[in-house]
Amino acid sequence: MRVVSGIQPTGNPHLGNYLGAIRNYVKMEGDAIAAGGENLIFIADLHAISMPHKPADLRASTLELVAMLVAAGLDTNRTILFNQAQVAAHAELQWLLNGTARMGWLNRMTQFKDKSGKNREGASIALFTYPVLQAADVLLYQATHVPVGEDQKQHLELARDIAQKFNNDFASEDAPVFTLPEPIIPPEAARIMSLRDGGAKMSKSDPSEMSRIELRDDADTIMKKIKKAKTDPEPLPSEAAGLEGRPEALNLVTIYAALAETSTDAVLSQFGGQGFGTFKPALGELMVEVLAPITARFRELREDRQSLDAILASGAARAREIGRPTLDAAYEALGLVR
Ligand code: TYM
Repeated sequence: MRVVSGIQPTGNPHLGNYLGAIRNYVKMEGDAIAAGGENLIFIADLHAISMPHKPADLRASTLELVAMLVAAGLDTNRTILFNQAQVAAHAELQWLLNGTARMGWLNRMTQFKDKSGKNREGASIALFTYPVLQAADVLLYQATHVPVGEDQKQHLELARDIAQKFNNDFASEDAPVFTLPEPIIPPEAARIMSLRDGGAKMSKSDPSEMSRIELRDDADTIMKKIKKAKTDPEPLPSEAAGLEGRPEALNLVTIYAALAETSTDAVLSQFGGQGFGTFKPALGELMVEVLAPITARFRELREDRQSLDAILASGAARAREIGRPTLDAAYEALGLVR
């Protein structure tokens, strides 16, 4: 079992990142170790340069994200935590895979369409080839399990297509170069939505901070954002079917269920018939209970720059070692003389 996943150091990590992905990185750390495997989690700093950015912010947020991942529960004695920029093999393997990935496949990627918007001609080439780097990220380590939110599913399907085509074109059936990775998406928190618009995903890039709970928000901010979250005037139904056509209500109930690690039906059997005047404070309090210890630990860890650098350096050394045989095999399979 080899678990591999990445998160971009752009903006501040939020509740969607936590419930959709980070909490699973921590859960799967235990599973991977128990199975005699590895858990590799990285900061996707190379992906972050696909959009306009400030170098000083990128540097600072890379280190802060390390602090946040440790604060959220990753144990660096058990998880290999690193950043892409310190493991050159990610960029090298991306180039090797560029020969296999097809223009048509990348043209179908919805994230490129969303992020480039109307300015397709002005988008960076990195934004277009971003999914090939993402494929390299997981294929480099023979990842078996990739914990992600639903928005990354399409990118992982592409990684599987690239692996399959490369194996078909350049390897024998009994000795494939790459393993086909499985996305692991938490059903209860696959897609956490914006607090201002139940039709939009909670996102680091939403201009409104009120749309998301950031993991560094203090208790007052969390309570305020939940209180102001968009809802409708109806009370909560007693069964999930009653949430149909009520995306904001569904989102808040989903968040409650994910935080409490229970089902939406269980939440509705407790709160059915009650209005948001009762439900919102209960949700806010539960959120503070779950996030406050993480935020407190984050504030301590972020101050210790030396420890954060050391975590990344030792993680990168281990990652380089684990990735080397696959990178060598890919060069060899392609007939490249080194
Ligand atoms: P990123 O940085 O946008 O998000 C990190 C993780 O959080 C999940 N996520 C969500 N889950 C549920 N609800 C939401 N509203 C929500 N928003 C974000 C994402 O699905 C992701 O799992 N391209 C990736 C980073 C990456 C990567 C990889 C991931 C680079 N290489 C290899 C997996 C494997 C990204 O931008 O995630």
